[in-house]
Amino acid sequence: MSSTKSVVQSTHRIPFQDLGRLHASIGDELDDAIRDVVSRSAFVGAASCSSFEREFADAHEATGAAGCGSGTDALVLALRAVGIGPGDEVIVPAMTFVASAEAVVIAGATPVLADVDPTTLLLSAETVNAVRTESTRAVMPVHLYGHVVPFDLIENWRSQGLLVVEDAAQAHLGSWQGRMVGSAGHAACFSFYPGKNLGAFGDGGAVISDDSAVLARVATLRDHGRASKYSHDEIGMCSRLDGIQAAVLSVKLRHLAAWTSRRQRLAEIYADRLGSLLVPWEAGAVHHLLVARLEAGARDRVREAMTNAGVGVGVHYPLALSQQPSLAPWHNDAAGAEAAGASVLSLPMDPLMTAAEVEIVCDLLQDLL
Ligand SMILES: Cc1ncc(COP(=O)(O)O)c(C=O)c1O
Repeated sequence: MSSTKSVVQSTHRIPFQDLGRLHASIGDELDDAIRDVVSRSAFVGAASCSSFEREFADAHEATGAAGCGSGTDALVLALRAVGIGPGDEVIVPAMTFVASAEAVVIAGATPVLADVDPTTLLLSAETVNAVRTESTRAVMPVHLYGHVVPFDLIENWRSQGLLVVEDAAQAHLGSWQGRMVGSAGHAACFSFYPGKNLGAFGDGGAVISDDSAVLARVATLRDHGRASKYSHDEIGMCSRLDGIQAAVLSVKLRHLAAWTSRRQRLAEIYADRLGSLLVPWEAGAVHHLLVARLEAGARDRVREAMTNAGVGVGVHYPLALSQQPSLAPWHNDAAGAEAAGASVLSLPMDPLMTAAEVEIVCDLLQDLL
């Protein structure tokens, strides 16, 4: 353990991510964009929102995008827009953020928790087949950590008559074999929570789709089911992407491809050092999170030691959805997801991190094992 001590002592503080540094690097652009919105009082239903929607859709080679108030709302709106409602079962992976399943419940449908592949931690043909019933209407593949669920699986589900709503909250600009995230499902949903690869200065979300009818329905539902100013065809929500968030997102979108390449380069350095210790990914992954698998008994000890050494780490997610109290009525067997929850450790990942910092994190982790 003497080498551990020396690495720990030589470690300077390496944050899990550093939003302040990222925003400072483009501070003038952000200030100008916000000042512009304020000077026009263009806070809701603003031009900045429609122009961001166009830019975000183009970045994903999608027909269009509809902004909304959060990633959770994007999922609810997309589910409703593709026609999911009471009586429908929607298959959701048991290893994801709670919002994936929560959105199904809010949309009035029934979440069916599927286990995940024990290696990739993503949905697979086998885990979906294991929970599929006559009432299954849709599948929600989650591109967890920015690792993209293979599109041949998604296309197979579609060819079997299932609706597919992709949870791309962690996968902005993700791709699979050269095709952008969102191009395989009926709709894909993004979160702009501040810490996401594309993050706002508050909450925000968007749905992208190649189906104009789905986009039009999302646009109606997010705005009180409005048909005209004071005529409302159905019960909707108040979930619009506001003008300031859209302006901030447009600025950051201009830098996203470079930031994503940088994440991919850092992930390669991590992979060279840590190899099979990492949750594997395919080309096109965008590395929202960089996740190691440790022995269940070691994870919490290593987590604490890294934190004490000044290295920011996290756990995504400690509980599988099959262990979440709020989802008790829908618990299913999900041994793979539950084992993952006990063993995953997210390491620092930030586009402005240096290669030397990655090396320090890897030295420390290896010394602690
Ligand atoms: C996989 C996944 N789905 C959905 C969401 C919900 O997004 P939001 O927090 O913007 O509502 C998140 C964000 O935390 C997420 O990581």
